[in-house]
Amino acid sequence: MENALERRTRRCQAEMEANDVVGVVLAAGSNMLYLSGFSDEPSERHLLLLLPRDGDPVFVAPTMYREQIEGESWVSDVRTWDDSTGPRPILESVLRDLPFDDGTVLLDDAMWATFVLDLRSLLPDATFGLASDVLDPLRMEKDDRELSAMREAGALTDEVSEAIRTMGADAVGMTERELADEIDRRLREAGASGPAFETIVGSGPNGAHPHHRRSDRVIEPGDPVVLDFGGSVDGYPADQTRTVVFDGSPPAEFEDVHETVHDALEAGVDAVEPGVTAESIDAAARSVIEEGGYGERFTHRTGHGVGLDVHEAPFITDGNETELRPGMVFSVEPGVYLPGEFGVRIEDLIVVTDDGCDRLNHSPRGWEPL
Ligand code: CO
Repeated sequence: MENALERRTRRCQAEMEANDVVGVVLAAGSNMLYLSGFSDEPSERHLLLLLPRDGDPVFVAPTMYREQIEGESWVSDVRTWDDSTGPRPILESVLRDLPFDDGTVLLDDAMWATFVLDLRSLLPDATFGLASDVLDPLRMEKDDRELSAMREAGALTDEVSEAIRTMGADAVGMTERELADEIDRRLREAGASGPAFETIVGSGPNGAHPHHRRSDRVIEPGDPVVLDFGGSVDGYPADQTRTVVFDGSPPAEFEDVHETVHDALEAGVDAVEPGVTAESIDAAARSVIEEGGYGERFTHRTGHGVGLDVHEAPFITDGNETELRPGMVFSVEPGVYLPGEFGVRIEDLIVVTDDGCDRLNHSPRGWEPL
């Protein structure tokens, strides 16, 4: 693993060279983890990874992190600061050593403003940009280790999806929150470290809010229920959505909407192959929904890349001309939302292969109880 991390770092430096970038500064988060093997939750303390175009990366970290970084990361140059002196003197000397003072320096896209302002004042002559310019091209193409974690996460999420759907009428009368807790419990039981994001259970009219999480609403007979969840394996998520009716007859328009969304999913997945653009996948799925008469009710992009972050590049949206390459993993998740009534979303993760794509999710996509 150590070698794989160092290889990623050297590839990142090659991207820096090609883009005429002198340095990259990463904050706690997925980019730091991707290159170094270590990260933590973002906090107000300066925990930074500085990568020069040539030579080795340097951690600037609070003293209390030293042993943890030395244990988990291949990066051996760790310069620590104490709460009493603060990070500024150490940061200043590292920036001088690397050196970062003149040229283009890329900052982590999700860096706190306090760190950005410090770096700007310490590097008055630098031009700043975003680290995604050099990291997204690497992170989008998953290696075998990443793919196997995501396949495992997808398989156990399928297993839980099917188990939940066999509950049938037993799920009626539960609140969304109770059902979400049951999903989370089963994900852990199936071998996930936990849910990769807050499990979504959107019943009846709540399903018409694409970003509804869960509530105390009781699931009633005939309710369409949007179930959007995924387990996490070795830091990599699954992300799958099914819209089901646990018992009883759904609303009149539901079957038509479900069929349209399902057809859109299939059209999107069928369009995936190396060399086509991300936006062409969005167009393939969206045109089916437009032809079905629900174009106005499909209010979000068709999908998002998935990796160390549940939402990352490539984004499957109009205007994204990124060409798909083997190893990219992203969701195809068309949806139709009828305010006050119900919503339907169906989502699979797919991986681009040399001649098309594979799905990471295989659980039944219909709405009937299993
Ligand atoms: Co998703």
